[in-house]
Amino acid sequence: MMSRQALGCLTLLQAIASAAAQLPSNSSNSATVKWLEGVPEYNSGVSFGLPWPRGQHLANATTFIASSESKDPVQLQTWVTAYWPDGSIKWTGHAIAGSDDVYDGYTITATGPGNATSSTSRRRAATGQNAIQVTESSEDIVVDTGKVAVSFSKTGSFLISSIKSSSGKIVGQNGRLILKSQSGVADGEEDDKPPTIEYSTFASKIYDTTISGDSSVRALVTIQGIHQLNDTSGSDHVDWLPFTLRFYLYANSEAIRAIHTIIFDGDAEKDFISGLGIRFDVPLAGEKLFDRHIRIAGVEGGILHESVQGLTGLRRDPGEAVRNAQFNGTKTPANSTWNVQASTRLQWIPTWNDYRLTQLSPDGFNIKKRTKAGQSWLKIPGGTRAGGLAYLGGAAVGGLAIGLRDFWKKYPASLDISNAATDTGSITLWLYSPSAEPMDLRPYHDGLGEDTYAKQLDALEITYEDYESGYNTPYGIGRTNEVYIYAFDSTPSSDRLATLTSHTNDPPVLVTTPETIRDSKALGSYWTTPAATSGSASVATIESHMDFLTKFYENQIEQRRWYGFWDHGDIMHTYDDDRHTWRYDIGGYAWDNSELSPDLFFWNYFLRTGRADVYRLAEAEARHGFEVDSYHLGNFTGLGTRHGVQHWGDSAKQVRISTPVYRKAFYYLTGGDERTGDLIHQILEVEKAFVLVDARRKVRDPGVVYTPDPTALYLNFGTDWAGVAAAYLLEWERRGPRWEEARSKLLETFKTYPKLKNGFVTGEALYNSYTGAWAPPPTDPQNLGNISVSHLSAVFGVLETIDELTEHYPEINQDFVNAWLDYCYYYSASKAEQKARYGKEFSDSSLRQGHSRLTAYVANKRNNATLAARAWEEFQNDNSSDELSPDDPWATVRINGSLALTPVDEATWITTNAAALFGLSAIELLALVGPPKE
Ligand SMILES: *[C@@H]1O[C@H](CO)[C@@H](O)[C@H](O)[C@H]1NC(C)=O
Ligand SMILES: *[C@@H]1O[C@H](CO)[C@@H](O)[C@H](O)[C@H]1NC(C)=O
Ligand SMILES: *[C@@H]1O[C@H](CO)[C@@H](O)[C@H](O)[C@H]1NC(C)=O
Ligand SMILES: *[C@@H]1O[C@H](CO)[C@@H](O)[C@H](O)[C@H]1NC(C)=O
Ligand SMILES: *[C@@H]1O[C@H](CO)[C@@H](O)[C@H](O)[C@H]1NC(C)=O
Ligand SMILES: *[C@@H]1O[C@H](CO)[C@@H](O)[C@H](O)[C@H]1NC(C)=O
Repeated sequence: MMSRQALGCLTLLQAIASAAAQLPSNSSNSATVKWLEGVPEYNSGVSFGLPWPRGQHLANATTFIASSESKDPVQLQTWVTAYWPDGSIKWTGHAIAGSDDVYDGYTITATGPGNATSSTSRRRAATGQNAIQVTESSEDIVVDTGKVAVSFSKTGSFLISSIKSSSGKIVGQNGRLILKSQSGVADGEEDDKPPTIEYSTFASKIYDTTISGDSSVRALVTIQGIHQLNDTSGSDHVDWLPFTLRFYLYANSEAIRAIHTIIFDGDAEKDFISGLGIRFDVPLAGEKLFDRHIRIAGVEGGILHESVQGLTGLRRDPGEAVRNAQFNGTKTPANSTWNVQASTRLQWIPTWNDYRLTQLSPDGFNIKKRTKAGQSWLKIPGGTRAGGLAYLGGAAVGGLAIGLRDFWKKYPASLDISNAATDTGSITLWLYSPSAEPMDLRPYHDGLGEDTYAKQLDALEITYEDYESGYNTPYGIGRTNEVYIYAFDSTPSSDRLATLTSHTNDPPVLVTTPETIRDSKALGSYWTTPAATSGSASVATIESHMDFLTKFYENQIEQRRWYGFWDHGDIMHTYDDDRHTWRYDIGGYAWDNSELSPDLFFWNYFLRTGRADVYRLAEAEARHGFEVDSYHLGNFTGLGTRHGVQHWGDSAKQVRISTPVYRKAFYYLTGGDERTGDLIHQILEVEKAFVLVDARRKVRDPGVVYTPDPTALYLNFGTDWAGVAAAYLLEWERRGPRWEEARSKLLETFKTYPKLKNGFVTGEALYNSYTGAWAPPPTDPQNLGNISVSHLSAVFGVLETIDELTEHYPEINQDFVNAWLDYCYYYSASKAEQKARYGKEFSDSSLRQGHSRLTAYVANKRNNATLAARAWEEFQNDNSSDELSPDDPWATVRINGSLALTPVDEATWITTNAAALFGLSAIELLALVGPPKE
């Protein structure tokens, strides 16, 4: 038996070695992944994605194995997240198990049919001693990773009925959600009477609990439900605030990763959330009060050490060994060894039942404790930014820790430990702290009398806000939080908890090399690595400018405190030079909501450099924009909201903001983050929203009669269609439930769009959302040739989407491609050329720097050096307010003293529009036409 196993191993290694030897050096049979932020101290298991070039690995005939620099095989679970049209694999998702040994990186090798290695490794994964055990009954699903066993309920209020540690102790019970809300807030001055306010408390109610198919290395349990009233106050509030929780468990790991999503479906005038939490009971019966431990993460790895009954600092010392044990979280020695002057007087030492940490701002947290309800709280010295993790448990009974990623960045948050002196304690993680003022999602102004389109458009002239009553609604926006739960047999060391706190805040990421992604063409061919174009002084300058911009935004996020439950992940749009602040309160200049594609700048900058800080920036933006700036329920489902003072406030609801092209890299690199995957499917629903929301209702020529109709939607190719097209492409790649329909609509568009006399220069035309066919706009029913060119059409991911479509499907109708290349050519061509080609000059050709990438695109596709030079000329000599050039200062100025609220670094020459377009254009020009001529 021993020898056969050894032989199996040897065969495996030999097979890998011989497969490698047979392949050419540019082999794409394997790919390596490395840790984004260096080898982590703790590996609780991780999922990641890998791209594969077209035509290499047939999905039905390929298996994948993982290896590390060690000789031991690495258990691997694989699933396909995308396919090329020929059936070959485009993206895979993989999971590796938790492990004590963590390696620098891993190599994933694709093996063909009949490979002895693949069946060996499959057997190993399925029967290996650490593989996950799943037991499903009508009541629950139990997942046992070897380190923790979790029982997920299928009905009722408790999502998790129990969490058992490796030795079988129940260390957590009755995991449930809590929601508190109130029907109003005290708006008035101090002497006003508050209105009658009704307070309600809700608990989770489960609709559905499922486990995904393969659970060999990673189990994924998804629970959907809603918050249901659970109080005796007489409130009769309906069920609301639907939730989805996804629990990820990895073989050989005690960590449970929970992705918690809510959709706001309340009435902003009447439903004020005053607390949103996750609570677990922790059984403590049988544990001495002085052997029960409270640990709360503080600042920079700091941990608060407390016991329900403290034995340190007393007038009569129980003994050093006793004190050390309590501090260290180990069981105290038998009381016979204690100093009797202490051991006989324990009844006089107060016991601490409740602890509460509140982080109501990104700058400070407080902690307090009390002996019980009805007695005063006692302040514990707090700090600046809490790690967001709390542990409750005992030396003998074990315990539970819960942590929230980005705890302080998503303030107001808090952590409660309750009833620690009773037989059943509890930990509550508050994603929205009940100690904060209630969440107020009402509009920030009363409409200012803007009751006609004429007034709304006039107001746009002064504040740049596009207001309309009824459109400034949070109904349907969402938020996703990432929570970690850890189970322990006994109180862990504080160093361990500090490690878990950093793991919670920076969950390790495995990612492949920029070259692997680029060469696969699975995320387009419009970017390349810095090394590919380095060498000249002008390129070095451009690179340093992109570096400057990414660091600038990272610093502004911190200095300007762009944090908060709804805000974390967004950046601001425009700066107010006079006040030395971003225009957080001025209409369309406030929150950016992905305007002009900063997401594409940051993601592509990450793809080409592999830089960890940029990944984190882009990741937070992806989570924010897809959830908060987009709608998931109601009439606006699938649409996003234009930039504004409140993320959901502006009345321009368009798919240009919710477009999946901004979140696609995140989706595939994470191995198909399931929440993001759901949101991508949801964008397909936008076809319905197009009927309910006429995007150009305020700006259309009043002579044009238009009634939205699914067979004739009046859409812009860039701000409307490109977003749906990105969703269709993803559906096609993923072979989602509607992939054939999505493909068919794209093919119909490829066929019919070029039949518009002026192609993309037509700008807006009629789209049949049942078939994907285009017809001339109502302004030109004869198809004589409309000219409607807008600087906005090509700055929300249309080039990137069309390039990805072309790479995905090279059989694409060439008329469509040529129509696109014409648009790319003529947008910034001379007026004379425009007139010669279309009979008329274009009225709009602003954002020239941003559009230089269109020129570069056609230069590349038509292999035209003159155009390449034109692209760089446009990039370097835009000379408008919407560009950045080498003449700009490329430095910040320190503002301090009484000029600003806090000392800040400002760059008045930067707007986020310009930064986004500069970065994206620089990346694309370098890749498509190479360095500028010196
Ligand atoms: C695998 O897929 C290819 C392409 O879709 C198909 O031609 C082939 O018959 C399939 N083979 C098996 C064994 O299913
Ligand atoms: C094993 O897989 C590799 C990589 O796909 C392939 O080159 C090799 O021919 C396969 N070996 C056998 C025996 O099928
Ligand atoms: C409902 O409320 C009661 C009383 O406060 C509480 O004991 C119980 O745990 C709550 N149920 C849930 C599922 O939270
Ligand atoms: C226990 O804690 C003391 C400090 O209170 C420390 O010096 C000692 O090394 C710790 N012992 C163990 C076993 O962790
Ligand atoms: C020591 O512990 C035992 C067992 O828990 C208990 O019965 C006894 O009262 C304790 N002695 C003192 C002096 O507290
Ligand atoms: C949704 O759209 C329909 C049709 O335009 C309209 O009647 C209804 O009031 C809208 N609902 C909301 C909540 O805006």
